[in-house]
Amino acid sequence: MSSKFSKIGFVLAVAGSAVGLGNAWKFPTLVGQNGGSAFVLLYLLLTLGVAFVIFLAELSIGKLSEKDPVNGYKTLAPSNKNAWSMAGFTMLAAILIVSFYSLVIGWIIKYMYFSISGNLSLTLEESKKQFDTLLLNDFTSQFICFTLVFFIVFYVVSKGVKNGIEKLNVWMMPTLFILLVLMLLYALSRGGGFMDAMQFLFVPDFSKITGNSVLEALALAFFSLSLGVGTIITYSASLPDKTNFITSTLNIILINILIGLMMGLIVFTFIFEFGANPNQAGPGLIFISLTTLFAKLGVIGHILGAAFFLSLIFAGITSAISMIEPFAFYLINTYKMSRKNALILIGIIVYILGNLCILSTLSATEFKIFEMSFFDVLDKLTSKIIMPLGGILAAIFVGFVMKKRALEILFQPYMSGIFFKIWYFFLRFISPLAVIVIVINAFR
Ligand code: TRP
Repeated sequence: MSSKFSKIGFVLAVAGSAVGLGNAWKFPTLVGQNGGSAFVLLYLLLTLGVAFVIFLAELSIGKLSEKDPVNGYKTLAPSNKNAWSMAGFTMLAAILIVSFYSLVIGWIIKYMYFSISGNLSLTLEESKKQFDTLLLNDFTSQFICFTLVFFIVFYVVSKGVKNGIEKLNVWMMPTLFILLVLMLLYALSRGGGFMDAMQFLFVPDFSKITGNSVLEALALAFFSLSLGVGTIITYSASLPDKTNFITSTLNIILINILIGLMMGLIVFTFIFEFGANPNQAGPGLIFISLTTLFAKLGVIGHILGAAFFLSLIFAGITSAISMIEPFAFYLINTYKMSRKNALILIGIIVYILGNLCILSTLSATEFKIFEMSFFDVLDKLTSKIIMPLGGILAAIFVGFVMKKRALEILFQPYMSGIFFKIWYFFLRFISPLAVIVIVINAFR
């Protein structure tokens, strides 16, 4: 067994994994599209009722086996060991995710450069053109920025759980938090826009909730807590003994929600302050609307922009490393590979996939599969199919296959009997059903 996290190291590493582009980009975008605060409320409800429940299931697999996802399922399954070990291979989806996720971090690096060099566009049209130029025509920038992210991420993972992942998170997470607080204070000083943003995020309007928003909220809760692809299993394998993991988990969830809300308040303050459209879809909100607003604020705006993009880079990198570690840990455990060799192998795969993603955004190459860009194929395949599947499998495995006694022993010091019963009931009957509903909806 490799060395374990310290107690705070575990919380920060998992929070680092959870807090990422999902909070900064998906969260405000979806809140905007689904009419604001009622969606936030739903998201909170589903985070506690479904994601939290499955999170504890994945944590149990990791903690009780102290292994990577594949060997974890194998060790804990009382029978059909090889069949159950297949469930662990959902971790390969994390390798697909990191390939396009690192590219998005690469775009953010480019935007940080635009901010520092005073090159953000002043109007929405120009801003859109700038973004399109980067994606459609600029192979060189995308290639350089992706390659940079690639090396940083693999360098950190090469140092291992304690010396790489923990050390990075211990300074990056607090720095991210401080940057956000500073930006929030600035947003607060913008009076009117801030009040509108508060109203938008915190006064619920239930008329905006549709069946689809419920499912969007559930999918977001899943992605945002890094569930379904072995990350939580893997980090929990290094969970130090005698840690109150229930409080840790609640802290992680709280941090994740708090940072999402802070990002939301910052983004929407600017949006309302300058009358941009909160319903703008996709990456438009961060890369197009928000940057225009930074540009309008002149020098201060460019500094704020640089700070904002820097915080996104931090949040993204701590998430990206958590996508590589499961597969690396598996290769090390199963084939007795050195960490270095395991990472070279994974690195080659990620580097090829990442470059294919770049090619798929360029108008000259437009690498497509099934009419979708390769980038979108990876995104949809992982978030709509593999992640929910991974979550359902973890819930069924822990709820129906693993011995209940082992779970009771694990939870008993930190959770009263009645809470255990409630959790176990949700795990078996409520959470997997909820997830099945998401998947069915995605394919209707
Ligand atoms: N939770 C991260 C975010 O919100 C993304 C992430 C990190 C992730 N690790 C993951 C998503 C594993 C799915 C699976 O940006």
